[in-house]
Amino acid sequence: KNLQEDNLRAPVVCVLGHVDHGKTKILDKLRRTNVQEGEVGGITQQIGATNVPAHGVQRQTHMVKGFDMSNLNFPGLLIIDTPGHESFSNLRSRGSSLCDIAILVVDITQGLEPQTVESIDLLKKRKTPFVVALNKVDRVFEWESNPAKDIREVIKLQKEPAKNDFDRRTKEIIQALNEQGLNAALFWENPNPRSYVSLVPTSAISGDGMGNLIAMVCDLCQQRLNKRLMFSEELQCTVLEVKTIQGHGTTIDVILVNGRLREGDTIILAGTEGPIVTQIRSLLLPKPLKEIRVKGQYDEFKEIPAAQGVKIAARDLEKAIAGLNLQVAYHDDEVDLLKDDVDRE
Ligand code: GTP
Ligand code: NA
Ligand code: MG
Repeated sequence: KNLQEDNLRAPVVCVLGHVDHGKTKILDKLRRTNVQEGEVGGITQQIGATNVPAHGVQRQTHMVKGFDMSNLNFPGLLIIDTPGHESFSNLRSRGSSLCDIAILVVDITQGLEPQTVESIDLLKKRKTPFVVALNKVDRVFEWESNPAKDIREVIKLQKEPAKNDFDRRTKEIIQALNEQGLNAALFWENPNPRSYVSLVPTSAISGDGMGNLIAMVCDLCQQRLNKRLMFSEELQCTVLEVKTIQGHGTTIDVILVNGRLREGDTIILAGTEGPIVTQIRSLLLPKPLKEIRVKGQYDEFKEIPAAQGVKIAARDLEKAIAGLNLQVAYHDDEVDLLKDDVDRE
């Protein structure tokens, strides 16, 4: 498989949870963007992707006690946003099938809801490691925010009423997770990270706990995914969206999980009228920390290694189908074989 032990790719992190529990807003806080406010009805309707380079992790986590960026041996994170609305089960399933690790977002004031449970079932089925973001902690009674501090510190500094409200809500959520067959604990009380899911209190509005959440995800990758994250030349690439972009014509947004793409590559993908065979005209990356599903500026590359969210411009993409794999033919005689593969998907 040509695994490269000292060359790890970015982990693919999927954000899952019930509608309006704060998935997109958490990513906005991390990116310093306002994607959520631009969504129709405040509802996410597509899978999103954001390339988070190491400096994006760094600037978010400096307040986290005991977290050392320099220990990280992967180049950043590729974060996938998913819709929580009940009608988008297919997109949650697709998102979770692409990821190495997940963040399950639970509104601390609402607890587990139907799509939280649906998300848990997806994660269990695929045995995906995950952390729970106990989001909207700023709504805890008389909560006092301090995003510049480690969340453990912020909790300690709360007055009695806030502490009691936080403890009560957290206990209820742990109980509800238990009922789903999961052991769970606040991350600093977690007796065994291999058998207990860690909860990280966050607020996407005030920023409380955001650093701890990102640090927790990185730690979990480091502890659990080292083998899985070894870069492999074997291409694993899924089409997310088909879109027309001014100056580039019809493009496809793809999640490149493994392998690499090069300008000029012959790609084969499913289309509504049969397999499409075309050459990559431009390989584009959204600017770091920008959501690929939002119009923006792109940097052009000759070659892009996994894992990243990539925009591809090429001819004949108008009839491309989202949600399926993309293949590359490295020799002319592979084209027919790969067309058959794509047809059978
Ligand atoms: P879908 O993608 O539609 O499933 O929703 P989502 O989970 O992405 O939630 P979204 O980011 O759209 O946030 C829903 C609402 O909750 C918005 O009005 C946010 O401003 C608000 N919100 C999100 N996070 C927080 C938080 O930490 N605290 C408070 N007070 N409000 C929040
Ligand atoms: Na929403
Ligand atoms: Mg959203």
